[in-house]
Amino acid sequence: MPAIALIGAQWGDEGKGKATDLLGSSVTHVVRYQGGNNAGHTVVTPDGQKYALHLIPSGILTPNCTPVIANGVVVDPHVLVDEMQGLAERGVDVNRIKLSADAHLIMPYHIAIDKVSERYLGKAKIGTTGRGIGPCYQDKIARIGVRVQDLLDPSILTQKVESALELKNQILTKIYNRKALDPQQVVDETLEVGAQLQPLIADTRLLLNEAHERGEWILLEGSQGTLLDVDHGTYPYVTSSSPTSGGAAAGSGLGPRAIERSIGILKAYTTRVGSGPFPTELFDDKGEYLRKQGGEVGVTTGRDRRCGWFDAVIARYAARVNSLTDFFLTKLDVLSSLETVPICVAYEVDGKRLDEMPMTQTDFHHAKPVYEEMPGWFEDITHCRTFDELPENAQRYVRRLEELSGARISAIGVGPGREENVLVHELV
Ligand code: GDP
Ligand code: IMO
Ligand code: MG
Repeated sequence: MPAIALIGAQWGDEGKGKATDLLGSSVTHVVRYQGGNNAGHTVVTPDGQKYALHLIPSGILTPNCTPVIANGVVVDPHVLVDEMQGLAERGVDVNRIKLSADAHLIMPYHIAIDKVSERYLGKAKIGTTGRGIGPCYQDKIARIGVRVQDLLDPSILTQKVESALELKNQILTKIYNRKALDPQQVVDETLEVGAQLQPLIADTRLLLNEAHERGEWILLEGSQGTLLDVDHGTYPYVTSSSPTSGGAAAGSGLGPRAIERSIGILKAYTTRVGSGPFPTELFDDKGEYLRKQGGEVGVTTGRDRRCGWFDAVIARYAARVNSLTDFFLTKLDVLSSLETVPICVAYEVDGKRLDEMPMTQTDFHHAKPVYEEMPGWFEDITHCRTFDELPENAQRYVRRLEELSGARISAIGVGPGREENVLVHELV
């Protein structure tokens, strides 16, 4: 049976948590393969309970499904323990989580450097979540990272922390004028919290491949989105990992051929948190309308999300770089009661029309959207469950997005709840 990747097709917060939760009951494993607690995935269960998940895969809310934190994820052990505790208090069985021995640990010095370096950048800041994500991935690539398996060997952990802090303390004190961290205290605190994680540690690469060989269904839950990918996104205003489908293979240890289906999660309009170019961004009352109607406030940092119209150039780009087989269009209900709904179909850069993503970020920063206006609809669509039940103009809007976006739209979200969808084609 195939592995299915669910991938953010824009700048994150497309509704990946909800989509994962919807498909959770059809799979045996739900896997986070990159990112860390920079993510904030919202799930609203049928009994109306709302959950915000940061590090634990959304499959935790589906009984009998094994949530896997795979090798490509960066794990803040304190956050993981707190998140587990919060879920356990709400009656969720958290002991079934599997944590890769190869995942890297976010250490206190990563968080300190993330926060202080952003302040240092001033106006040029990336607008990171301040969770230590970038500095942790930097250490991974520099081959000086601390991994989950080091929790099992205190002497290796001590050596690694001491050697890392020799350099990091110089950076913190001499460049950023901050206090040095005490290596022994960092080691002690890491081992103390790590003891609670030991029972979860597993060879997740083997576990997932064996499940795949047995013919089980595996869901790969992306975090962030295609335009935040370190290679394919709006660099340098990106995250430090690969949310795209290539990253799903590398970050889980499943081979690329195991991933037979890639579903792009696509908001019916566009949002972005943090700095960076955003061609269809709105600065008027329409932007405010989307923010209010869509409840566009960050789950992780509480920052207001920047809002704009749907950008088909980006959707086409996401379809390509991820080999998307389907789209899950979310939040269509948010657009109800607009006179007209513009769609960005191309860009204009220095007087020239561009139908695809510009080659350079300089051009992307100057890209002006070319809009096509679609007639809006005023009906409440939250109760719609089939395509035919949608108002005529909503159907037209969806069909036009599909024509422009390079993959079929197989599901449409009409509300935050697990059941609030229009299913057009089977997803699993
Ligand atoms: P994620 O990071 O991709 O999982 O997305 P977030 O959870 O950060 O943000 C998506 C928000 O939209 C959450 O509040 C969801 O509950 C909500 N949501 C998801 N799908 C829909 C939908 O179809 N309609 C509406 N109104 N809300 C939705
Ligand atoms: P989910 O999984 C939206 C953004 C940050 C910042 C940039 C880099 O909920 O969709 P980082 O802390 O990763 O170094 O920040 O990436 N960002 C997100 N934006 N949704 C997310 O996750 C994000 N995770 C990171 O705002 O612009
Ligand atoms: Mg989110």
